[in-house]
Amino acid sequence: MISAVKRIAVLTSGGDAPGMNAAVRAVYRACVTFGIECLGIYRGWNGLINSEVKRLDRHDVSHIINRGGTILYSARSKEFMTEEGQQKAVATCKLFGIDGIVAIGGDGTFRGALALSKYGIPVIGIPGTIDNDISSTGYTIGFDTAANTAIECIDKLRDTMQSHERCSVVEVMGRNAGYLAMYVGIAVGATAVLVPEESIDFDRDVIEKIRNARLNGFTHYMIVVAEGAANGAYEVAQKIRDSLGLDPRVTILGHIQRGGSPTARDRVTATRMGYYAVKALVDGKSNRVVCVRSGDMMDIDIEEALGMTKTLYPLDSETLHAMTCSST
Ligand code: F6P
Repeated sequence: MISAVKRIAVLTSGGDAPGMNAAVRAVYRACVTFGIECLGIYRGWNGLINSEVKRLDRHDVSHIINRGGTILYSARSKEFMTEEGQQKAVATCKLFGIDGIVAIGGDGTFRGALALSKYGIPVIGIPGTIDNDISSTGYTIGFDTAANTAIECIDKLRDTMQSHERCSVVEVMGRNAGYLAMYVGIAVGATAVLVPEESIDFDRDVIEKIRNARLNGFTHYMIVVAEGAANGAYEVAQKIRDSLGLDPRVTILGHIQRGGSPTARDRVTATRMGYYAVKALVDGKSNRVVCVRSGDMMDIDIEEALGMTKTLYPLDSETLHAMTCSST
């Protein structure tokens, strides 16, 4: 099928996420399917400003579907949010004859895409962030891999906490979003989970849960904290020390959650989204975000997507009880 679109560029931006490479690979392979040249923009929107653009070939995308990180590198770009930066980016698009861009990243990436679209450059966003905090989609690339990395680490922690009958306070990523913490907390049977979206009554949400667990015979406790909640794990540990006289051990999982070979879910979702994004450009769409809802791929307007707010994981009482079953 020959397309009116002749040249598509792809970039990755913001915090990297496992599966981004699979999406880049899918964009390239979809371009080949449609007879379109595929260019890589290196270092996110900065790369467009600085003309860091290279034609991609099959060797660039071979054996990357299983690799974390991004072969196109990533960066956050303050300059791109300026008029001057955007005009430099438009000049690059003209210089290389770019007919459309696929931008893989989070909300910040989509704000850049929206800015560029006002200059007539078609952009399709693909949601890629381990936070899973993009409201328009039920899933963002990287979340499943990050969650499984955190779960594997916390399962290991539980072994030693159990042996020494200790309290563990574990901080997971999610500067402003508790989705990862909530999901991981349920999966590991946490004693308590603290997220930035919920106001915290420390005695009710932590101290009583530990007391309850102790009264039920537990002698080790697992507290999962999103990095943006309760001023972080060290403050939570200190409060537990002050209230209960325990001596909690703190573990900050940090950037480990951003690496690793993507899970099957992330590889397949990324591949489906990469193809969908190229097809959207071929069909003449612009300024859309690829979303997945109940397993179905769709696209919505970028501005609409950025205006949406995401509620936390819909926790019914049974799920909540199951999450804290270790304390009941
Ligand atoms: O947005 C993804 C994310 O991993 C957040 O969970 C985290 O707070 C942030 O990126 C860390 O950003 P950086 O890699 O710039 O330290």
